[in-house]
Amino acid sequence: MGEPLLSVEDLVTEFHTPDGVVRAVDHVSFDVGHGEIVGVVGESGSGKSVTAMSVLGLIPPRTGQVVQGRALFDGRDLLTMPPEELRGLRGNELALIFQDPITSLNPVLTVGRQIAEAILTHRDVTNDEARAEVVGLLRAVGVDDVERRVDQYPHEFSGGMRQRVMIAMAIANRPQLLIADEPTTALDVTVQAQVLELLTRTQQEMGSSIILITHDLGIIAEMADRVVVMYAGRVVETGGVHDVFREPRHPYTRGLLASRPGLAGSEELPAIPGQAPSLLALPTGCTFHPRCDQSHGRAPCREEEPVLLPIGTEAIERGSRCHYHDELAKGPDDDGHPPAGNGEDR
Ligand SMILES: Nc1ncnc2c1ncn2[C@@H]1O[C@H](COP(=O)(O)OP(=O)(O)OP(=O)(O)O)[C@@H](O)[C@H]1O
Ligand SMILES: [Mg+2]
Repeated sequence: MGEPLLSVEDLVTEFHTPDGVVRAVDHVSFDVGHGEIVGVVGESGSGKSVTAMSVLGLIPPRTGQVVQGRALFDGRDLLTMPPEELRGLRGNELALIFQDPITSLNPVLTVGRQIAEAILTHRDVTNDEARAEVVGLLRAVGVDDVERRVDQYPHEFSGGMRQRVMIAMAIANRPQLLIADEPTTALDVTVQAQVLELLTRTQQEMGSSIILITHDLGIIAEMADRVVVMYAGRVVETGGVHDVFREPRHPYTRGLLASRPGLAGSEELPAIPGQAPSLLALPTGCTFHPRCDQSHGRAPCREEEPVLLPIGTEAIERGSRCHYHDELAKGPDDDGHPPAGNGEDR
C-alpha cells in the first residue's frame, strides 16, 4: 500500500464515569488505503463506534476525550485540527452513515431539502443545480418515484429507504472516506443486501475508501479488503480478510469465526464462552485470557500483556496480539490444532 488515506496511530479515548475512567479505545492503530474497504469487527462494547467517533471528532467533550494519538487523513491530523476545519471535512471529504437513520435525519425537512443542504453547505452551486443533483442521487441509490419522493419527509420513508437517503446524503459530496457504522443492522436481509451492494458500487465508482463497522463477519468476508478485530478497546488481530479468515492467528478471531451463523448449517454455535470484560476491571496479562481456549492456563497469558506483533509474510500486513499466535499458524496440511507438547507452564 502506498501512503494510506487514513492512518490511525496509537489512539486512546477515555470516558469519565462515576465508577472511574473507562478507556474505550486503547492504543488503537490501523491504516485505510485509498479505495480500500476496511472492516472493523468485535463484540458489543469493544470500542468500534468510539474509534469511529474519535476519528471524526464526535466524542461529546463533557463525557469523554481523545487523550492520545493521531488520525492522519491525507497527511492532516484530524485530532488536532481546528473544529471548524474538521466540520468542513465532515459531510464533504469525510462522511458518516449511522445505524439508525431516523435519528440522523431531520424530521422537519423534506429529504430532498436535507440532501440539498449538504451539497449547498460545501459546494458553490445554485439551488436548482443542487436539486437536480439530489434527484440524480436518489435515483442512483434506488429510491423509486423520485420526483414525488424528493419532497417527502423522513417519516414517509421505510427503514430501508431511509437508509438509502442517508447514503445518498453521505455520498452527495463524493467523500474520500465513508465511515459506515452498522449500516444495515436495522434492515431486513433483502434490503440489507441491496444497501451493501450500493455501498460497494459507491466505492467502485467514486474510488472512496470505506470503514465498515459490523458484527456480521459474513458482510466483512464479502466486502472488505482488510479486517481489524477489536476486543476490549484494543486491536487483537488485523490483516487481509482472506488471510485472516483462512487462518486466524488470534484465538478471539478464531472464536468469532467459529460462532459465525450460517456455517455448515449448524444450529448450536460454539459461542465464545464467558463475557467481554468490564473496561473498569480488565484481566491482567492478555485481556482475553480468561475466555481463551488456547491459553491452557499458561503464565504469560495471565501475566504479560501481549503487543500487536507483525506476523506472516502476506502481501497485506498482518498482526496478532497473542503470545502464542505461532501455534495458530496452519501448516500446509494442518488441521489447525496446536502442536502437541507445547502446553507447559513457563
Ligand atoms: N458516553 C460514554 N460514557 C461512558 N462510556 C462510554 C460512552 N460511550 C461509550 N462508552 C463505553 O465505551 C465502550 C465502547 O463502546 P462502543 O460504543 O465503541 O462499542 P461498540 O464496539 O461500538 O459496540 P456495539 O457493537 O454495541 O455498537 C463501551 O464499554 C461503552 O460502554
Ligand atoms: Mg457501536
